[in-house]
Amino acid sequence: METPVNAIKLHYEEYGQGPAVLLIHGFPLNGAMWQPQVVTLTDPQTATQRRIIVPDLRGFGASPVPPGPYAMDDFATDLVALLDMLQIDKVVLGGLSMGGYIAFAFMRRYAQRVRALILADTRPGPDSPEARETREINAQIAEQQGMGALADKLLPGLLAPNADPTVSAILRDMMIHNQPQGVAAALRGMAQRPDSRDLLAQIAVPTLIIVGAQDSLTPPDVAHAMRAAIPGSRLAEIPFAGHMSNMEQPDAFNAVLMEFLGELDT
Ligand code: MLT
Repeated sequence: METPVNAIKLHYEEYGQGPAVLLIHGFPLNGAMWQPQVVTLTDPQTATQRRIIVPDLRGFGASPVPPGPYAMDDFATDLVALLDMLQIDKVVLGGLSMGGYIAFAFMRRYAQRVRALILADTRPGPDSPEARETREINAQIAEQQGMGALADKLLPGLLAPNADPTVSAILRDMMIHNQPQGVAAALRGMAQRPDSRDLLAQIAVPTLIIVGAQDSLTPPDVAHAMRAAIPGSRLAEIPFAGHMSNMEQPDAFNAVLMEFLGELDT
């Protein structure tokens, strides 16, 4: 298959066997944020064993850091090029937060490659003018003060009040190993992302929406509105989890995920 124009060759990890699941990480992280799901979904004892593909998006982790800003379409194009390279026709596509914004861009352009959709702790709407200003401030913090300063600013908002400090430490470690240029490019791209609310009614694949009950960035009411707008979708609220629901409460998150994937097989 032909690599889409402008696609970047991504670093990715691949685990397990079975129908493919592509998991898109959030901001400003990398594919390792999905480790709690990888462990469970690739367990040979699990009936829902899957082939899990976890890329580092352009600008993050071990992937190249081209000049920005990175539009959500750029990320989606990189991902379809990765699927082409792996000769995977259809996937279950999952994204958390920024990963969800990218999943919407992917659905707009490449819906025929998606077998089912998982939208975790994300929102379909665009940034408000205030949020766009904050993106630019944060981009400048990354560029001028470094990733440690930005991590210190962002971390408290990501987790539920009583979150395990180990999760916070893992997140911080992922953040500070990213390049400021890549992080700033993603911030400027997110600020310009389109409104995807018009897309929701057209989503015609099984869709699972997951939200941490204590997510203050993409709160449960946003998730409930998405559930109402996406035909036939279902919603799971994860107790005692904030924005990083998959890492904060992995057992509850994985139970919901495995049930959804199991039903796709029947
Ligand atoms: C994320 O977790 O990906 C970010 O919170 C997304 C955002 O900043 O909008």
